Amino acid sequence: MTKAILKLENLSKTFGDGDTTVQVLKNISYTVKRGEFAAIVGPSGSGKSTLLSIIGALLTPSTGKVMIDEEDISGYSSTQLTSVRLNRIGFIFQAANLIPYLTVKEQLLLVHDIGRKRKTDTRAIELLEHLGLSHRLKNYPDKLSGGEKQRVAIARAFMNDPDMILADEPTASLDSARGKKVVEMIAKEVKSRNKAALMVTHDERVLHLCDRVLYIEDGRIMEK
Ligand SMILES: Nc1ncnc2c1ncn2[C@@H]1O[C@H](COP(=O)(O)OP(=O)(O)O)[C@@H](O)[C@H]1O
Ligand SMILES: [Mg+2]
Repeated sequence: MTKAILKLENLSKTFGDGDTTVQVLKNISYTVKRGEFAAIVGPSGSGKSTLLSIIGALLTPSTGKVMIDEEDISGYSSTQLTSVRLNRIGFIFQAANLIPYLTVKEQLLLVHDIGRKRKTDTRAIELLEHLGLSHRLKNYPDKLSGGEKQRVAIARAFMNDPDMILADEPTASLDSARGKKVVEMIAKEVKSRNKAALMVTHDERVLHLCDRVLYIEDGRIMEK
């Protein structure tokens, strides 16, 4: 049986204090296995980004468990969460969030320590080649198209060989053809390397590339 890479148990998140609290996520339980690509859809303000941030160890839940590879990270200290973020998770945001004064290759080397320079250099080049960017290694972000920037962001997210890719509306700034390509690449990485991915999207046209579609409304999750 395939091991669950992510398991959410009765997850809740409340923001604020006193009389101004708002419960954004309500009792969410959900499991993702290796090799699985899940989409998360739902209206604006329904809690999608909050959910992804909790899974990505950027936010802690108010109650409930987040198990990554059967390890509960919900009680982790901020140092432990940083390590989870660096080693287990690859994040792709809506805007590619590239650093303007670093070249394409340098974007990928940023998160790495000097000690393993040769090895990480090779990996960066391999990933960028794999994503069709070998001719762009020395270019700065302002020379890249929107699709190319998002592919750099994907390569960067895979750099640490994370177990899980989290993508928050990765196609929002792209036209439909480029958006589809980006999602195809996430799907391909998930399948060929037996990873898992969760992607928030508004784009109905890419849902067929996902294995499952989850719908969030008013902080509750259901399978579509
Ligand atoms: N740090 C925060 N403090 C208070 N409220 C927040 C915070 N972050 C998000 N929210 C609220 O939580 C709800 C869900 O937000 P979000 O997860 O960003 O939704 P989505 O990504 O589905 O649009 C919104 O009502 C938002 O205003
Ligand atoms: Mg959002």
